Amino acid sequence: MDKGVYALVFSNRPCTLPVGGLGKVRFRGGWHIYIGSALGPGGLARVSRHFHLSRARDRPPRWHVDRLLLSPSFTLRHLVCGPCDADLECALRVTLGGESVPSFGSSDCSCVSHLLYRPADPLEEVMEAMSSLGLAPRSTTLIKGKGSGGKMGVPMQVVGISGSMRKEGNTAKLVRIVLDQVKDAGIKTQYITLADKVIKPCIGCENCKEERCCIIKNDDWHKIIEKVLACEVLVLGSPTYYYDVNGQTKNFIDRTYSLYHDRQLAGRRAVGVAVCADKGGKRALQTMEGFFSSHEFSYLGGVLGKGYLAGEVLENKAAVQAAEKIGQKIVRLLRPHD
Ligand SMILES: Cc1cc2nc3c(=O)[nH]c(=O)nc-3n(C[C@H](O)[C@H](O)[C@H](O)COP(=O)(O)O)c2cc1C
Repeated sequence: MDKGVYALVFSNRPCTLPVGGLGKVRFRGGWHIYIGSALGPGGLARVSRHFHLSRARDRPPRWHVDRLLLSPSFTLRHLVCGPCDADLECALRVTLGGESVPSFGSSDCSCVSHLLYRPADPLEEVMEAMSSLGLAPRSTTLIKGKGSGGKMGVPMQVVGISGSMRKEGNTAKLVRIVLDQVKDAGIKTQYITLADKVIKPCIGCENCKEERCCIIKNDDWHKIIEKVLACEVLVLGSPTYYYDVNGQTKNFIDRTYSLYHDRQLAGRRAVGVAVCADKGGKRALQTMEGFFSSHEFSYLGGVLGKGYLAGEVLENKAAVQAAEKIGQKIVRLLRPHD
C-alpha cells in the first residue's frame, strides 16, 4: 500500500463535542478538512480505517479525528490521498491555511491545528494544494450534494427502544407512534424491543474505564448500543415499575456507564417515554432525563402515558397526541428545510 498524506473532508452541523484532552470543542456548521499522514506500515490503508469507522461507528475513539468520525453531526464526504514518501502533512496544512480548530490533531507537531474550517465544500482547494506540493492527489467522493448536513448527506436515524418485557405493551405502542411520525417523513428509523433481549446488569467492576467498553459479553447489550451510537435521536421508553423505570430498562441504562467516561453518546438528541397505570410515571421520566443529561444528550422532551393492560394507553388521547407531537418535533429538527 502507498504511503503519503491524506485529507478527510467533512460536512457538519453546528455542534459541541468532547475531544479528549481538548475538552468540549464547539464546531461551526459547514465543512472541515482533517489533514493526516500515513507513512508507517500499511500506509494509506489508514484512510480505509477512518472510512470504516465513519460508517460503522463501532469502536471507541482513539484519535481526535475519531470524535468527528463517530459523531452523527459530521458526515465524511471526500477522501483525498496524496501518495509520497516524504512527510508533507504539516506542509499541506500550511498550504491550505485559514481558520482552524486550535490544537486539533496536532499534539505531535508544532502546527496550530490539523483541522481546518471552510464555509463551503473545499474539495477542489484540497486537490490544488496537494498538486502544488508536487503530489498526484486521488479523491473519492462518498456522498454528493452541496449541503453541509441534514437532508444533503448526514445519515439520519432515529432509534426507538421499548424497555418493557411486554412486547406489544403500552410502552411499545407509544414509542412506535413517535417513530411512525418520523418514518412517514422519510427519515430512517429503527425500533428495538428489550422484551426478548438478554441485558445483564452492570457489575460495577469499573474495568470499562480502562477498556473504554463494557467488558460483560454474551448478551444483547452490545448490538443494541451500536445502533444507539450510530443514531441521531434516541427515543427511550419504559413502563413504570414502583415509581421508576423497570429493571430491563435500568440494566440497559446502567451498562452505558462504559461509554460515559469519554462521553461517547454526547451530542445526540433524546426523547423519554414512560407509561404508568396510575402514579410514578413522572419519576420514571426523571430517571431517563438523568441518564440523558449525564451523557450530554440534548433532551427534546418526554411523553407520559397512562394505561394498565397492554394496549390501553391508546385510549389516552392526550398521550397519543403528545407522542405524535414529539415525533413531529424530531422531523422538524432533522428536516429543517421541509
Ligand atoms: C412490577 C410492576 C410494578 C408496577 N408499578 C407501577 C407503579 O409504580 N405505578 C403505576 O402507576 N403502575 C405500575 N405498574 C403498572 C404498569 O406501569 C402499567 O401496566 C404499564 O402500562 C405497563 O407498561 P407496558 O405495557 O409497556 O409494560 C406496575 C406493573 C408491574 C408489573
